[in-house]
Amino acid sequence: MRRVLVLAAFALLAGVGTAQVDPFAFMPDGGRGLMARAFPTPEAQAEALAATRSAEEWLGALTASDLSERERATLAAYLSRVAPSDYVQSLPPDGRDLALVQCQSCHSLFSGYLMQRRDRNGWLVIFASPFHKDIPMSQTEREIFADYSAINMPMRVEDVPPELRF
Ligand code: HEC
Repeated sequence: MRRVLVLAAFALLAGVGTAQVDPFAFMPDGGRGLMARAFPTPEAQAEALAATRSAEEWLGALTASDLSERERATLAAYLSRVAPSDYVQSLPPDGRDLALVQCQSCHSLFSGYLMQRRDRNGWLVIFASPFHKDIPMSQTEREIFADYSAINMPMRVEDVPPELRF
C-alpha cells in the first residue's frame, strides 16, 4: 500500500514537473498536442477520431481550424495513421514523442535529429543502419515519426536553446 502511495506521489510530481518546465517546449507540437488545439472538446475529438480519411482528405477537413499550414499537415499525417479509433483518452505517441524517447540515448538530439533535413523516405532509411535497426519502434510508429520529422525538421539553430546545441 505504501509503495502504491509513493508511486502515486511520484507520478503526480513527475506530472507537475513536466507541466512546469518542459525543456523541449521549443519543439513543434506533434499530432497529440495539435489534436487538443484543433478539437478542443472530448466530443469533437471522438467525432474526429471516428472518421476514416487519407492525409489529403484530413488536410481539407482541417482548413477551418486555427492551425498553421505546417501544423495542419502534421496533424493530417498523424490522423491518417491513427484514425479511425476510439482511444480519445490515450492517443498513440506522435512523432515528437517518439523522437524525444528514442533518439537521445546514443547521441545528441541536436545533431542526430533537430538539424537533419530529410524527406519521409530519408527519415525511414535511418532505421536500416546497423546501429538503428534495433530501435524498438513498430512500423506504424516509424511512419508516424517520419511524417512528423519530414514536415517539422530541421529546426532553425536559433530556435533551439543554447544548452541543447551540441
Ligand atoms: C542504439 C543507439 C542509437 C539510437 C537509439 C539512435 N541512434 Fe542514431 N546513431 C547511432 C550511431 C552509433 C550512429 C553513428 C555514429 C554517430 O554519428 O554518432 C548514429 C548516427 C545517426 C545519424 C547520422 C548517420 C546517419 O545514419 O545518417 C542520424 C541522422 C541519426 N543517428 C538519427 C537517429 C534518430 C532519428 C534516432 C531516433 C529514431 C536515433 N538516431 C537513435 C546510434 C543510435
